[in-house]
Amino acid sequence: MRAVTYTRYGSPDVLKLKEVQKPSPGDNQVLIKVHAAAANVADWRLMRAAPFMVRFMGGGILKPKHQILGTDVAGTVEEVGENVTQFHSGDEVFANLTESGRGGFAEYVCAMESATVLKPANITFEEAAAIPIAGVTALQALRDYGKIRPGQNVLINGASGGVGTFAVQIAKSYGARVTGVCSTRNLEMVRSIGADQVIDYIKEDFTRKGEQYDLIFDGVANHSVADYNRVLKAQGICVVVGFSSLFNMLKVALASRISDKKIGSMTAALNKEDLVFIKGLMEEGQLKTVIDRCYNLSEVPEALHYLEGGHARGKVIIQINNSN
Ligand SMILES: NC(=O)c1ccc[n+]([C@@H]2O[C@H](COP(=O)([O-])OP(=O)(O)OC[C@H]3O[C@@H](n4cnc5c(N)ncnc54)[C@H](OP(=O)(O)O)[C@@H]3O)[C@@H](O)[C@H]2O)c1
Repeated sequence: MRAVTYTRYGSPDVLKLKEVQKPSPGDNQVLIKVHAAAANVADWRLMRAAPFMVRFMGGGILKPKHQILGTDVAGTVEEVGENVTQFHSGDEVFANLTESGRGGFAEYVCAMESATVLKPANITFEEAAAIPIAGVTALQALRDYGKIRPGQNVLINGASGGVGTFAVQIAKSYGARVTGVCSTRNLEMVRSIGADQVIDYIKEDFTRKGEQYDLIFDGVANHSVADYNRVLKAQGICVVVGFSSLFNMLKVALASRISDKKIGSMTAALNKEDLVFIKGLMEEGQLKTVIDRCYNLSEVPEALHYLEGGHARGKVIIQINNSN
């Protein structure tokens, strides 16, 4: 099968389209013929080993531990492992590959049954592939860390990004009044996915407008702890999901210990229950994937180069046209 592989860390030039052996499913896995894979920020961070600590967080210390990137896919089940009970050959599914060693930028990949979900019939493979990391991060940040409730004033910083576009819609589905922060060119798009109010970060700093929020979801991480404190209501919560620098991360970690308001960062823990929850929102029409652009498998280097520019509008998707 064809796959995009890399054997050393570096720029997108390290990624090579090659013929590799087609995988076979373990007892608890399904083999998926991949139709679409999402590009996530984690992919270019793992490609570059940036920040350096990525090497010690499962990336591989001297060279990449897993040679095929791509953590979120959608496709058709081709074969199932011995213990698999929920899926059959021909099922249309989407899956997260964190627990199975990634490998989504390929024509076939094995996913754990426990990280695989039937694709909603009303969405495309491209829309489904976008869900796992971006959707679950937005959900867990708002619902679990942020304790979102109906009627709250919720601000989404980075509302136009892959995670932010899910966050705006999920916050709306919980009955919040949502303010999205984005640049001029994305104001209309962020309104169109449900934001009640939009703030253009090029013209205004949301932390200096005098408004306060019950919950801040920060997908950019470009503000100080003092800024968060100023715009949070007394019992307010700020959850930082974005990563800008190690220094910023340490400051937020310190704030989570000493601030009287709840300010902290979180890392999503992918689980099937939350994938199914998001699938439900999609089936009800409460949530849709915003796709910025699609690339072919041979264009994964271009896709990751584009994504690391930091200006995606929604999700960047790899379309995989299986030839066999
Ligand atoms: N904690 C977790 O578990 C977790 C999981 C997934 C992702 N993440 C992190 O979350 C962050 C966002 O991920 P993503 O996939 O949404 O990234 P992305 O798709 O690359 O999003 C980039 C978006 O940020 C916007 N943006 C850039 N500067 C901004 C600013 N100053 N104010 C407001 N918006 C700004 C850009 O809009 P313009 O083009 O208009 O500038 C663009 O739409 C990344 O740091 C990623 O590593 C964390």
